[in-house]
Amino acid sequence: MKKVDVLLGLQWGDEGKGKIVDVLTPKYEVIARFQGGPNAGHTLEFEGIKHVLHTIPSGIFRKNAINVVGNGVVIDPIIFKKEIDKLDERNVDASSTLKISKKAHLILPTHRLLDAASEASKGKGKIGSTLKGIGPTYMDKTGRNGLRVGDILSDNFKERYGFLKEKHEQMLGHYGADGVTAEMEQEWFASLDTLKRFELIDSEQYLNDHLRSGHSILAEGAQGSLLDIDFGSYPFVTSSNTVCAGACTGLGIAPNRIGNVIGIFKAYCTRVGSGPFPTELFDEVGDKLCEIGHEYGSTTGRRRRCGWLDLPALKYAIMINGVTELNMMKTDVMDTFDTIKICTQYRVNGELTDQMPFELNTEVEPVYVEMKGWKTDLTQLTNGDQLPSALKDYIRFIEEETGVPISVVSVGPDREQTLFQDVTSVESV
Ligand code: GDP
Ligand code: IMO
Ligand code: MG
Repeated sequence: MKKVDVLLGLQWGDEGKGKIVDVLTPKYEVIARFQGGPNAGHTLEFEGIKHVLHTIPSGIFRKNAINVVGNGVVIDPIIFKKEIDKLDERNVDASSTLKISKKAHLILPTHRLLDAASEASKGKGKIGSTLKGIGPTYMDKTGRNGLRVGDILSDNFKERYGFLKEKHEQMLGHYGADGVTAEMEQEWFASLDTLKRFELIDSEQYLNDHLRSGHSILAEGAQGSLLDIDFGSYPFVTSSNTVCAGACTGLGIAPNRIGNVIGIFKAYCTRVGSGPFPTELFDEVGDKLCEIGHEYGSTTGRRRRCGWLDLPALKYAIMINGVTELNMMKTDVMDTFDTIKICTQYRVNGELTDQMPFELNTEVEPVYVEMKGWKTDLTQLTNGDQLPSALKDYIRFIEEETGVPISVVSVGPDREQTLFQDVTSVESV
């Protein structure tokens, strides 16, 4: 029986997961998203086309691949419809290749309103949510109130919707926020027709059947490990398990069926929204990373905070996920840098540590090593053998510190700007 490879972000999201899923899809029969919802924005670039996906897995542009939205995902039918419309514009017919779990939960218009009301009530302590209704929808899921995709086929769906809406309206009243409008509801109900056009499946059964038939599956994560509900910088996190274990619960895959775990990280670090970020740069170097890296959110357009690579945080994410290979993204963004810093330890209350403290607060001071920049235009390279020696040193340093090989060095947003590394020489721990 085949195993499921898992691809996930090791930082605070936006590491470049969409690009790599698209690059790797030809190796797999099925691509399956396992958690999150339209808070995600996964960008793909090829043949001069740039496309951002929110709910739909990033294998959708490759012919023949089946794309599954798993039970762990939360779906806003309105956003889903917009995504399908965009694919239609590009003549991508997903009707037979996209399947949706009946157990995925639905984001209602009132979930979005509750997200906004909750954030507004937090004032300075706000999470910086994408306001897509993610938190309230997962709250209803764990609170056992939620509506699932499979429910839209039932006769009493409208009644159950009305019951949940009523509950939400009361909560909105408590916040002093406005309720849902008739237009919002109309648009939501109309967009359910788009969902119904696709095969709604028992995805856990479907995926395990594929494994038994010897088919290969790639599980696509959203967000990043440092936004995980359990292991992220709580409470400044998202509301799902973004780590590898989330692929088991979000797809119905047994832990012993997990194969390779591909951990995606940027050669530096970014974060969008509130919350601690030890290596954040507030100077012109941070501005340079932001401008060259076009660090503006794919979903919200917000400016991403930028900083140096944080190895204690990366090692922590590697540990929690059981990462077997690393992919280093956006390496080209630092092509012009004379020197590059990497945080190797934290100083907490005067003591040095390379472990994640309970709280990543202002007491956590990063300790850096400085390395020489490679000062080479990487974007034109076509082969991993062509890497400049200063970049090889940077790669080797990260591999030695983490004990995990870097199998891909990404040097631009396009599919083609992907350099594969021979990882057999690196000893994995
Ligand atoms: P995701 O959420 O992890 O899929 O990442 P996003 O799509 O939100 O953000 C990554 C951004 O970086 C996108 O705009 C990509 O097109 C872009 N990108 C991905 N890899 C590279 C790379 O190696 N170099 C550069 N310059 N941009 C990249
Ligand atoms: P992808 O999949 C980056 C952040 C938000 C906020 C926090 C909680 O594209 O990497 P939420 O809307 O989930 O309640 O927001 O998490 N966040 C992301 N940051 N990339 C993402 O997804 C994110 N999804 C959520 O900015 O700080
Ligand atoms: Mg993104």
